[in-house]
Amino acid sequence: MSARDRDAEAVRLHVVTGKGGTGKTTVAASLALALAAGGGTVLLVEVEGRQGIARLFGTRPLPYEERPIADAPGGGRVCALAADAESALLEYLEMFYGMRRAGQLLTRFGAVDFATTVAPGMRDVLLTGKATEAVRRRASERRRGGRDAGGGRHVYDAVVMDAPPTGRIAQFLNVNAEVAGLARVGPVHNHADKAMSTLRSAQTAVHFVTVLEEMPAQETVDGIAEIHAAGLNVGSVIVNMVHSGFFDEPVLREAAEGSVDTGALVRGLKAAGLEDAEETAHGLAQEMSEHAQRASAEAAIRARLDEVDRPRMELPLLGGGVGPEELHLLAERLREQGL
Ligand SMILES: Nc1ncnc2c1ncn2[C@@H]1O[C@H](COP(=O)(O)OP(=O)(O)OP(=O)(O)O)[C@@H](O)[C@H]1O
Ligand SMILES: [Mg+2]
Repeated sequence: MSARDRDAEAVRLHVVTGKGGTGKTTVAASLALALAAGGGTVLLVEVEGRQGIARLFGTRPLPYEERPIADAPGGGRVCALAADAESALLEYLEMFYGMRRAGQLLTRFGAVDFATTVAPGMRDVLLTGKATEAVRRRASERRRGGRDAGGGRHVYDAVVMDAPPTGRIAQFLNVNAEVAGLARVGPVHNHADKAMSTLRSAQTAVHFVTVLEEMPAQETVDGIAEIHAAGLNVGSVIVNMVHSGFFDEPVLREAAEGSVDTGALVRGLKAAGLEDAEETAHGLAQEMSEHAQRASAEAAIRARLDEVDRPRMELPLLGGGVGPEELHLLAERLREQGL
């Protein structure tokens, strides 16, 4: 087993980021299913309060509560949680001070008006704090006091976070710097420290989802450098929505340069008994050279992604969109590529 494989095996918090719309939520859900296959229990967490997971699995909106959402092959199970900073704060107050009711009162009277009053760094630490607590949680752990009992096995074999996009991910995960200014001592500081030590450990990897287009690939390259500079581990690059290739490399190269053998096409089409073989052949040649140009642009983007030197997985573009069944298919593809 290589060092990289050992690293991958130790990862228990998978943070999934990428440019908006490239498939973060889809990939996070597929990754959770793939990791649960064979009997594991995996928690899939979303932190942006958009109910993307519920939409994807076709369920009702998720509450702030971990609940089973899908079965994985081999007796595995995926649970889901839609985390929001306000609920995380209430839970946190309850856990440390037994202040559930006080928290509810605060909310009712608007004293905790998150939209306007809570510093962004504090929201982030509440959310990363929740996810990392789930990573550390053990079966025998007592909730109140929040201390690791250490004995029992982990409640979750892995936690997958459908995280903010590349533009915000480094700041989102780099909670310590922000919170240090807000709370130098005390439980909040402690909470941030614990979150940060899990985030910075070998247990956490940040994966980047991209498609084979210029902008998302650039954001991936930049995002990887940023995460690396923040002292966090970069995991894999997952190239999503990959078009299937119809032609071999040499044929594509010629076509991209504009030399499609139209004469051969015409002869082929005539042999197949087509009436307007000439016209059809020209149309096909045109389509083929467009396809070839796109393929060559994609090859250039793959070459750029090679430079970041991280493991890469690819997922196909699915014609009919993505629902619960397609997620299993994508999970299978991830497993085939050595997840
Ligand atoms: N492999 C795929 N094949 C076909 N469609 C896909 C694939 N992956 C994602 N999609 C579709 O692309 C759209 C965007 O996917 P998704 O919501 O997962 O992206 P996202 O990065 O989470 O977006 P946002 O930035 O809005 O959170 C969805 O309609 C989804 O069904
Ligand atoms: Mg999403």
